[in-house]
Amino acid sequence: MNIIANIDELRAQINSWRRAGQKIAFVPTMGNLHQGHLQLVDVAKSRADKVIVSIFVNPMQFGQNEDLANYPRTLDADVAGLSQHAADAVFTPTPQLMYPRGLEAQTFVEVPQLGDLHCGANRPGHFRGVSTIVCKLFNLVQPDIACFGKKDFQQLAIIRQMVIDLSLPIEIIGVATERASDGLALSSRNGYLSDDERAKAPALYQVLQQLKAQIAGGNHDYRMLEQQAKAQLAAAGFAPDYINISNQQSLVLATTATEPKVILAAARLGTTRLIDNLEL
Ligand code: PAF
Repeated sequence: MNIIANIDELRAQINSWRRAGQKIAFVPTMGNLHQGHLQLVDVAKSRADKVIVSIFVNPMQFGQNEDLANYPRTLDADVAGLSQHAADAVFTPTPQLMYPRGLEAQTFVEVPQLGDLHCGANRPGHFRGVSTIVCKLFNLVQPDIACFGKKDFQQLAIIRQMVIDLSLPIEIIGVATERASDGLALSSRNGYLSDDERAKAPALYQVLQQLKAQIAGGNHDYRMLEQQAKAQLAAAGFAPDYINISNQQSLVLATTATEPKVILAAARLGTTRLIDNLEL
């Protein structure tokens, strides 16, 4: 597997694959790879000739009081996992390479509306950081397809919209959330949980499943159901940020029984913020 840290080498690698007529799949990550990321690589591998993964802890998507400095950086283990899953190349740029003039001077990409809801309301600037780095990486890698986890449902919706709005010729693939055997969605941030918090964490998915069952059973009082679910989460030891029953495309709060829905949730256990979702 080719480990690439500079742009000239990246372009040379991409060009040589292109000249050979090979289809390129891209998996952007922030490293600290777990089975969920490796599943993205497997899906990418099944749909293209070459798979390139990026590992970049993107400072632009972290808020002032968030965990940028402490975000787990595990490059050696990540490279070993990617080799085992037969990734062809990994791009590991530095912040200096991606943002040579600093974050304040950087041109940005922002997807309005979709980016303002849910996590966007709780984490101002977060999705601007995500869409900016993903757009830059797309311009560098110029993949045919790119794979993202459905655990970050809102992020996936924003990237799909960005690709449409900016006419980028890239197929975006959403890959099902990988879960631990007790239902907890895999996330790099699970590593921050204490033993006690880890034992409580599966309640987030359980509450989503109960909510889904209530809606399937014919309860359409969505705002009341959201309040009830938040209270259940609080009783299970979480500080909920939001639980929103939303339209699957627009992500605005659902109001009708017939529209396709997704339940989106974010909640804190101690200092760790977990997100999850369930499509209906
Ligand atoms: O989902 C992530 O890990 C990040 O938000 C992404 C898409 C790699 C952009 O930094």
